Amino acid sequence: MEPLLALEMVRVTEAAAIAAARYMGRGAKDDADRAATEAMRRTMDEIDMAGTIVIGEGERDEAPMLYIGEEVGRKGAEAREGSTAIDIAVDPLEGTNLVAHGQANAITVLAAAERGGLLHAPDTYLEKLCVGPVVAGKVDITKSATENCHRIAEALGRRVADITIVILERPRHDDLIAEVRAAGARIKLISDGDLSAAISTAVSGTGVHAVMGIGGAPEGVITAAALRCLGGEIQARFRFRNDEERARAKSMGNDDDEGRVYFTADLASGDNLVFAATGVTGGDLLEGVRFFGGGARTHSLVMAYHEAHVRFIDTVQMFDRSRPPSVRL
Ligand code: FBP
Repeated sequence: MEPLLALEMVRVTEAAAIAAARYMGRGAKDDADRAATEAMRRTMDEIDMAGTIVIGEGERDEAPMLYIGEEVGRKGAEAREGSTAIDIAVDPLEGTNLVAHGQANAITVLAAAERGGLLHAPDTYLEKLCVGPVVAGKVDITKSATENCHRIAEALGRRVADITIVILERPRHDDLIAEVRAAGARIKLISDGDLSAAISTAVSGTGVHAVMGIGGAPEGVITAAALRCLGGEIQARFRFRNDEERARAKSMGNDDDEGRVYFTADLASGDNLVFAATGVTGGDLLEGVRFFGGGARTHSLVMAYHEAHVRFIDTVQMFDRSRPPSVRL
């Protein structure tokens, strides 16, 4: 894949973040999501690539754009012929409620890989265990949460009382939360956004040491792309809500066995992985969009597995060239 593609991709998440950030705290999660989706879709067509959405906003008949199977990239047969064929997984706005309520950690995000390099996950759940590079290879999702808390602490050279586990605050996690509390670890309960929390496990200084619990499967695949680039690990098992989801998973080429453990490279197997995310509201990992007269400033994380590059990108976007804002350090 073109090495420059990662840098092109960040323009897509930046545009989506600026569009979504306009809705911060306005109590309109669907509008925020729509704005991010439209901006993401529009900007994708400025990039010279032959992309196919494999994880997106839903099926063709339920989403107007960024639906599964949609072709994206600069239009025209010429461009498509000369372009690399890639699969793209998007979450135009991860944390729609977070934006609607002006809360931390909403991001816009995408991952891309060569054809077949990302698992085609249906809109169901995955049970996830996510950790950073120091802990990778030392946990086991088939063991108890207590056992994993001890393994994480040992790998990090800390006491269990000095590690923090992020868990989505849902009734389905009552037992998990009780067990982690009993093990003695600190817990950060989040209302949404297990994807950005999972990436945070692999970025030291965020204060997040692991993510445990059940969340979206599409988010799990994008998490895997990010953690592969960062040397972290996700272990996951499908958790279907009903037979329809199970059948859907199967029809998309997945194993419908809930006992099967998927590892990072099962979910994001591509060697030409690219990942980009931009903060919408400020959080553990990224600053949110900051607007000022005539422009906005965005903060993004961009990675290319092949290049072994991790870039944090701080961008000032000028809305009006005739009235440029003063750019500050
Ligand atoms: P949005 O799709 O509203 O942005 O929510 C994202 C999210 O919180 C993910 O981070 C998480 O994996 C999933 O939803 C959890 O799903 P549920 O809300 O059904 O528990």
